[in-house]
Amino acid sequence: MTRINENFLKLSKSYLFSNIATKIKEYKALHPDKEIISLGIGDVTQPLSPASIEAMHAAVEEMTAADTFRGYGPEQGYPFLREAIVENDYRPRNIELDASEVFISDGAKSDTGNIGDLFSNKNSVGLTDPIYPVYIDSNVMNGRSGDLIDQKWNNISYYRCTAENDFIPTLPTQKTDIIYLCYPNNPTGTVLTKAELKKWVDYAITNQSLIFFDAAYEAFIQEEDIPHSIYEIEGAKQCAIEFRSFSKTAGFTGIRCGYTVIPKELKGFTEEGKPVSLNELWHRRQTTKFNGVSYITQRGAAAIYSKAGKEQVKQMVNLYMNNASFMKKELERFGLNVYGGENAPYLWIKTPNNISSWEFFDQMLCNANVVGTPGVGFGPSGEGYFRLTAFNTPENCKKAIERITKWLSKV
Ligand code: MLT
Repeated sequence: MTRINENFLKLSKSYLFSNIATKIKEYKALHPDKEIISLGIGDVTQPLSPASIEAMHAAVEEMTAADTFRGYGPEQGYPFLREAIVENDYRPRNIELDASEVFISDGAKSDTGNIGDLFSNKNSVGLTDPIYPVYIDSNVMNGRSGDLIDQKWNNISYYRCTAENDFIPTLPTQKTDIIYLCYPNNPTGTVLTKAELKKWVDYAITNQSLIFFDAAYEAFIQEEDIPHSIYEIEGAKQCAIEFRSFSKTAGFTGIRCGYTVIPKELKGFTEEGKPVSLNELWHRRQTTKFNGVSYITQRGAAAIYSKAGKEQVKQMVNLYMNNASFMKKELERFGLNVYGGENAPYLWIKTPNNISSWEFFDQMLCNANVVGTPGVGFGPSGEGYFRLTAFNTPENCKKAIERITKWLSKV
């Protein structure tokens, strides 16, 4: 008899975005003539930058000759990409990293899900609520979550982030070993200032906690004083792992590439309290379970750090942020309470008349043929909210807002 990991049975039937995809498919089957606009999953619509395309074509050419062909690459990434990241994403912000502290992967989703492999199930876990569902689901799979009681896992602490507290989480009142933070935040699109983030770093240092900082959306920050990296905060290298992604920044949702930074000085502890390098543990884990990202992909990612690449990627980010600002302005003009959308490509909307997130989803799909994401799908504090992404084309964003406001004005 083969026994399964029964933790999987505790999960909801399907992952949030698979659930939504099924609902859209069902609706389309019943209404084949309807044109649906998706502002649901945060998938990008703009093509890759010309710099990435050119670099990837050149990399394919290299694969055609025996003397330039590449087989297995280093599991943790090619030095050219790891070094470009250190030089371009960190050094200009006065953060000194060694390339060996950067691990290239197929994206932040995999890394934020897999990082749990390094840690004992005895750790307590805390996260802001609502949050990217991968953090919770992966802890459930690992057996670290406890049981689901009243929509919350009883071994996970939830730090409520709603309009009532300006989406600023309160520090834990009990000792928490692992804390997930995602800023700019998915799903609320809100941010933390340096002063706010410093409180979390100070807490982690005092309590020997570890912060998993997901900075997948840092490229969308527009305002000063909003940290792009947790390592902008003094002491963070002793207490934080940072996750980044090329998905939204460079159009890599389908290509797949991201990276994780694990500073050499960052330590975990054995039961006896002996410090162990997390950088070495992750290196060990990745060399066993991961064979690296393709050479072609890594060349494409490195190209965004060229002069032309930087300019092209900036234009892409500007296009999405213009969508966000247009959508936010129009929905607010219509009278809705809209949060986020200023330093992140997500708008977080209070549902009108307090209707539930899923009810709003169903009504919007049927009446406006626009798809969004129900806030409660990101956690209990997301109930009564709804997320729209700004990643569609300007034309579709405009059309979607027209449809939504037309529908709501009739309600
Ligand atoms: C989202 O819509 O929250 C993201 O696209 C999901 C992801 O990055 O995996």
